[in-house]
Amino acid sequence: MKTVTLIPGDGIGPEISDSVKKIIKAAGVEINWDIQTAGADVAETEGTPLPQRVIESIKKNKVALKAPVTTPIGKGFRSVNVALRKELDLYANLRPCKNIEGIKTPFENVDIVVVRENTEDLYAGIERKVDDDTAESIKIITRNASTRIAQYAFEYAIKNNRKTVWAVTKANICKFSDGLFLECTKEVSKKYPQIEYKEILVDNLCMQLVQNPQKFDVLVLPNLYGDIVSDLTAGLIGGLGVAQGANIGKDCAVFEPVHGSAPDIKGQNKANPTALLLCATNMLEYINEKDAAEKIRKSLYKVIAEGKVLTPDLGGNATTEEYTNEIIKNL
Ligand code: NAI
Repeated sequence: MKTVTLIPGDGIGPEISDSVKKIIKAAGVEINWDIQTAGADVAETEGTPLPQRVIESIKKNKVALKAPVTTPIGKGFRSVNVALRKELDLYANLRPCKNIEGIKTPFENVDIVVVRENTEDLYAGIERKVDDDTAESIKIITRNASTRIAQYAFEYAIKNNRKTVWAVTKANICKFSDGLFLECTKEVSKKYPQIEYKEILVDNLCMQLVQNPQKFDVLVLPNLYGDIVSDLTAGLIGGLGVAQGANIGKDCAVFEPVHGSAPDIKGQNKANPTALLLCATNMLEYINEKDAAEKIRKSLYKVIAEGKVLTPDLGGNATTEEYTNEIIKNL
């Protein structure tokens, strides 16, 4: 039996984790879940929101499924999510966004893959208060990390039959940092002549994404733009409840949705487990359970396309539990 680390997170995390565990079990895959708590409650009892045992568990099992963890805004501890990506050197954050049949949005035929650099930029956490009226944050961009993420994006494009990689920056303003990122993506692109390479400024990209998203294919971005743009692309296909993601490193992978812990709907039995479930199907493929992954996806997409049992964020009135049971019924 395969052992997989599970971080149930907080907010809606534990509810959607339970739903996903039930569905995977019903699909016939026995997983030994190595459950590792992290976040605010853990900080109170263990003195840190990300104890070393969590890192060790993922290093040992090489694969994890992670539900969202709350990060205090403007104060408190550093993001567990950012720390985990950094500690395990999960340098590529992959966020595919494709229309799902049955989810109505103003946009059709959207099929975009966001490849976000995951270890540096403003997320390096180098910031300080200079005095009462001034604060500063340092944006780190290195040749090594930029080249590595560009290579990942082009390799992904080749393996997945994509046509174009767009490098997204604000290199007109951040001439040195984003300029270096762009220099690296351009350099890497020369090794992949079969993939078209294009460059675009992030503000222009945002405008065009809501006017003509069909135009875009694979996007490669520094950390902050990748974070923001992937929420935008999630919105194009029906919102955060259905947006999957993965953090990939050389030695291990952590599958986690784009969305956060949604404290506004915590404990109300109305969270949508779809995003975490899609992440789980990718995790199943990663551990060679391809048939089960396919079976779950088929059932999930059937339930959504039928549109009878949907959670409120998708315009329905089913509870998380009812939606979960409907997916299990259709397996
Ligand atoms: P959020 O993604 O938690 O919520 C934004 C909106 O989307 C809310 O209205 C929420 O109800 C809705 N939503 C999100 N996921 C949903 C789901 N599965 N089903 C139905 N509705 C859903 O973003 P927010 O409010 O900015 O962040 C809340 C907390 O989550 C913060 O502490 C933030 O730092 C943390 N966060 C954690 C992430 C992670 O663990 N990877 C990623 C993003 C945010």
